[in-house]
Amino acid sequence: MTTAAQIISLVRSHTRGDSTRFEQVALQLAAAAAKRGHIKVAEELRGLIEEARNQSKSIERTRDPIPMVRPRGELAGILTASFPSTRLSSLVLHERLGAALKRIVKEQREREKLDDHGLSPRRKLLLSGPPGTGKTSTAAALAGELSLPLFTIELDGIVTKFMGESAAKLRLVFESIANNRGVYLFDELDALAAERSMPNDVGEARRISTAFLKFLEEDRSTSLILAATNHAKLLDRALFRRFDAIFSYELPDEAQARAVLENNLTTFDLSHLDWDRLFAECRGMSHCDIARGAADAARIAVLDHEAELDSELLIAALADRRHGPAV
Ligand SMILES: Nc1ncnc2c1ncn2[C@@H]1O[C@H](COP(=O)(O)OP(=O)(O)OP(=O)(O)O)[C@@H](O)[C@H]1O
Ligand SMILES: [Mg+2]
Repeated sequence: MTTAAQIISLVRSHTRGDSTRFEQVALQLAAAAAKRGHIKVAEELRGLIEEARNQSKSIERTRDPIPMVRPRGELAGILTASFPSTRLSSLVLHERLGAALKRIVKEQREREKLDDHGLSPRRKLLLSGPPGTGKTSTAAALAGELSLPLFTIELDGIVTKFMGESAAKLRLVFESIANNRGVYLFDELDALAAERSMPNDVGEARRISTAFLKFLEEDRSTSLILAATNHAKLLDRALFRRFDAIFSYELPDEAQARAVLENNLTTFDLSHLDWDRLFAECRGMSHCDIARGAADAARIAVLDHEAELDSELLIAALADRRHGPAV
């Protein structure tokens, strides 16, 4: 293989998360360097490969066609892993929030440039806002944009499943954060605050809260650490200080409601819809509920109305979503 082909192969295997192939090609490059008498280069490459090998011990990356990451051993019950292809552009966000998230992506993509000037990208992010407004989707989109695996951690689950050793489990998670670059989402952060006010397992919730603050503060990794909450008010002030940025999610305004409907009804003719009535129906609903209502209406339109969608049908479907789960 020529060196150019090897470099392409190296980058491709990295992007796909194929660590076995990555290692193979890197070793070939090292061997080729040694052959040409570039002993120092060869040694340095081998050293880096060894380092990478040690780091990837606890996370397995499977091969094509679908790149996957799979936490092993003790991490398996704590982290959920995926390789999302979601993009920021698929989310409907208010302008400031959209722009702010794009900056996070830019900082990550150009972190070496920042590093040259003694700066570092922001990577500890708190996402706060009502249910169904795009917090979990944002974590997936950041992972998708940066071609990084997404690891989700349910803190609530750690507290209840590992009574007495939850802080130790959390340490494992932060070790993975340091050793396997990725987007790590601590979902349902307010579970900690809520549990802290419950009399029975005060000790455990406090322990994991304290441990979380400490690990978050000590973390010097290159991973992105995201935490999502519905109730920022419940959280400790001490927690806020440890994040590089706080992003607020809100219920959609009319323009956003329209965008969510349009995104979910791309195959229908929407030119005759009564948008004012639809906006009135969407008021107070989350992006998630509107998206689901639109999908409900689309199914009914296709199966019962020869793929014709009108305002009545859409409003009825949205109303069903607003008033709770359909039967
Ligand atoms: N801002 C958005 N733009 C487009 N679609 C959205 C948006 N927010 C939510 N959705 C839709 O709703 C679904 C659920 O959203 P998501 O899980 O991101 O919400 P969340 O803010 O994490 O909610 P929760 O607080 O309940 O965890 C998404 O898969 C997507 O289909
Ligand atoms: Mg969520």
